[in-house]
Amino acid sequence: MRKALIAGNWKMNKTDPEAIELARALVAEVGQYEACDILLCPPFTSLKSVGDVIRGSKIKLGAQTMHWEKSGAFTGMVCADMLKSLGCTYVIIGHSEQRQFFGETDETVNKRTRAALANGLTPIVCVGEFLEQRESGKHEQIVRDQVIQGLKGLTSDEMKQVAIAYEPVWAIGTGKTASSQDADDMHACIRSTIEKVWNRDVAQGLVIQYGGSVKPDTIDEQMAMPNIDGALVGGAALQADSFARIVRFQA
Ligand code: G3H
Repeated sequence: MRKALIAGNWKMNKTDPEAIELARALVAEVGQYEACDILLCPPFTSLKSVGDVIRGSKIKLGAQTMHWEKSGAFTGMVCADMLKSLGCTYVIIGHSEQRQFFGETDETVNKRTRAALANGLTPIVCVGEFLEQRESGKHEQIVRDQVIQGLKGLTSDEMKQVAIAYEPVWAIGTGKTASSQDADDMHACIRSTIEKVWNRDVAQGLVIQYGGSVKPDTIDEQMAMPNIDGALVGGAALQADSFARIVRFQA
């Protein structure tokens, strides 16, 4: 019942010509693929040109963050209207790199998420624990708190427009992926938290992506798990062949 969502987060990679080349290759490879939703999140600098390349294909466009205000003196930031005017329908919010390096907190995640929803963008809200938190057995509590605080105050209808990405911080860009069972256990924990705070309907409809060193040779097993509904892919999304293989997962 949940349609899988495979997203490429290009992070701070690709000049504009490189972004165009990658987007063109992906349109050729999977532009009309409909078995899952496909999303590209290039840097702000290439949203326009990637949007132009993917127009007419099934591939969707998203940004890597946004501000919650409508406009104003926020040097370096962009708002929902700007993203929408370039064709974005998704925005990643609360990525662990934003939390680690740019002062993102659960409170700012909540503000961004509300602003995204108010403007018709689908937020992909990222949560995940550090290695020491997992080793000390606190990982489920940490992630539950991030979910509850980040999504605080959303109505059930709004929750139906939200996706969550579980990304254990220790698995991002390290080549260490969480075992499929550990990832699925956390996704089940997130889903039951959502059911308790909202309701079963919202929980069962919620797309929960896994992220953290997803590769062509990990995706099939990951997508076979009952609670994993997609992937937020970093490094392996930077080459067309590996991302296309992930999109064409066999579960
Ligand atoms: O947003 C994507 C994640 O941070 C995963 O990155 O696939 O390079 O580990 P990675």
